[in-house]
Order: sequence, then structure tokens, then C-alpha cells
Amino acid sequence: TRPLKVALLGCGVVGSEVARIMTTHAADLAARIGAPVELAGVAVRRPSKVREGIPQELVTTDATALVKRGDIDVVVEVIGGIEPARSLITTAFEHGASVVSANKALLAQDGAALHAAAGQHGKDLYYEAAVAGAIPLIRPLRESLAGDKVNRVLGIVNGTTNFILDKMDSTGAGYQEALDEATALGYAEADPTADVEGFDAAAKAAILAGIAFHTRVRLDDVYREGMTEVTASDFASAKNMGCTIKLLAICERAEDGRSVTARVHPAMIPLTHPLASVRGAYNAVFVESDASGQLMFYGPGAGGAPTASAVLGDLVAVCRNRLSGTTGPGESAYAALTVSGMGEV
Ligand code: HSE
Repeated sequence: TRPLKVALLGCGVVGSEVARIMTTHAADLAARIGAPVELAGVAVRRPSKVREGIPQELVTTDATALVKRGDIDVVVEVIGGIEPARSLITTAFEHGASVVSANKALLAQDGAALHAAAGQHGKDLYYEAAVAGAIPLIRPLRESLAGDKVNRVLGIVNGTTNFILDKMDSTGAGYQEALDEATALGYAEADPTADVEGFDAAAKAAILAGIAFHTRVRLDDVYREGMTEVTASDFASAKNMGCTIKLLAICERAEDGRSVTARVHPAMIPLTHPLASVRGAYNAVFVESDASGQLMFYGPGAGGAPTASAVLGDLVAVCRNRLSGTTGPGESAYAALTVSGMGEV
């Protein structure tokens, strides 16, 4: 069987782990897929940076030329951000490739258009890594629970803010002190806005809500409030009530069944709720559905290797589809529901 060719766009924390696992697990991946997978090119911004295990002749700064080659089976996009990722993904479909992406901002903003482009060209678009790193969520919601009716998704989907809130809760520290520690430990970025103001969680909420309720939810539909104003005394009050405070992504189906809401804000949760015990930078998503009842998905929501695990899972699925001449499930946004940022409070 001919090898399947993979183009990697981006070789940072996640991309370098994807390349490493593709090399070290090559035999296993080939056995699971039914054909070898070959890294055919790696597009980077800084070509001079030494990348262990990646042959220099595969490295290019011309990502557009790489996706236009025509012999690429799967493009793995781990650049992040809207552009150039969006144009590169669209060009990849036009030139015959399927796409695996970890790009939550792009999927939350332009998921519908990207799914349409994939469908038009008969290609796959998979993005398990876009929400909560290694934790399987997209496939369970889209496939395993496709015969059930999901009513609510409650998630801690941002590790940085969970680390900060956990620190405040367990030590009595203030927000700034806890943020400084998150920065020192490498959880928070130099500019923590996307995490602490809830933008990152809102993008993930949009993706989860769309898939859970089989409708279309965009980032703009999600009500968003960050956690920068949570104080040590808020935690003291919460404790008095047997609660803690978490930054939650809350996606709910209204009782009338005609609308859904998606929102991100700090919320008090009882210490007896399973989400209360999610410590440090971990993520967890609690799903309530008609037949299954309550499910919880828990694990590392960020980091190179955990995120690469989700990317590789998608890569295997997409490669299997290529070999059998099929595509996986598309967007499935067939439910005509009204979407808003706030339900009844
Ligand atoms: N900044 C994100 C987090 C990384 O802290 O969870 C994963 O999207």
C-alpha cells in the first residue's frame, strides 16, 4: 500500500510532538491505519531553529506551496489563529487533502464555512484537539451520543484559569498572586487576556454547543465574562456556602426544546459536584443527556503531548477514511434552534 503523505503546518509545542509521535510510533500507526504515514513537509516561520528528529529537507517557510503540492493526503494545521490558517485549510481542500486542525479560534468563528468547503471537495475536517487537549469530546458528542439527546454541557475548558482559581481556593491567595504563579510555571502566557477574560473558553463553548446540540453556534453567540474580578473574599463566601468557584462554559438546551444558550462566566458550584474536584490546570466536561444520564470527561486540556494525542487520533481516523474512500461525519448542524448567550438566570 502506498504511504499516506502528511503536511504539518506549524512546529511549535504541539507540532513538534505530532512529528515526534509520528516517527516513534510509525509502526503502530501504520498497523492501525493499514498503510504507512509519511511526514512529507513541515511549514514553519523560523527555518533556522533546530528541530530534533525532523530532517531539514522537509522544512519549508512556504506553507501555501506545501498545501498546493497535490500529493498531500492530510494537512495537519497546528498554527492557530485565523489567518493564515483559514486560507491554508481552504487551499488544502481545493488541492485534494483532508485536514486535521487544533485551531479552536478558527473553528469557533468559521467552522460552518470550513465544513462547507470540506464537504464541497469530499474531504474530512477533524478537530478533536481544538477543545480540551487530549480529552475525547468531539467524537463522543458527535458520534457516541448521536442517538441520545444532550441537554447540558458544563465544562472547565481552560486550564490556566482553573489553575489560578484552584490556587486562590486552596491558599487564600488573591487573583494577581495566583496569576503570577501561573505565569512563572508556564501555564499563563505573557499576555494572559485570552485565558483570564474567557475568550479561549468561549471559543471552546461555541464548538461544544454546536456539536452537542447539532446546531450552529458561533463565538459571537456566546456570552462571556472573565474571572479577573474574582477575589479571595468571594472564595471565603463560597466556602461558607459549601461551594467553590470555577470558570465554567455552560451550554444548555431550553426546556421548550427550541433554543440553546452558551455562556462562559465564573460560577459557584457545590463542593459535592464532580467539577469541584478538578484541580490545577486540568479540564473536565460534564454532560447530561436523556438516556445516558450524567457523564464526565476529565484529563489534561493542554500541553504538547496531550494535544498531539488528540491530533494523532484524528490523523488515524482521517487516514482510514482516505484508504476506504469515505469521509467521516460532517458538521451535522441540522437542528434549527435559536442560539443566544444567556438563558434564564
Ligand atoms: N490556554 C489554554 C488553557 C490552552 O489554559 O487551557 C489550551 O487551549
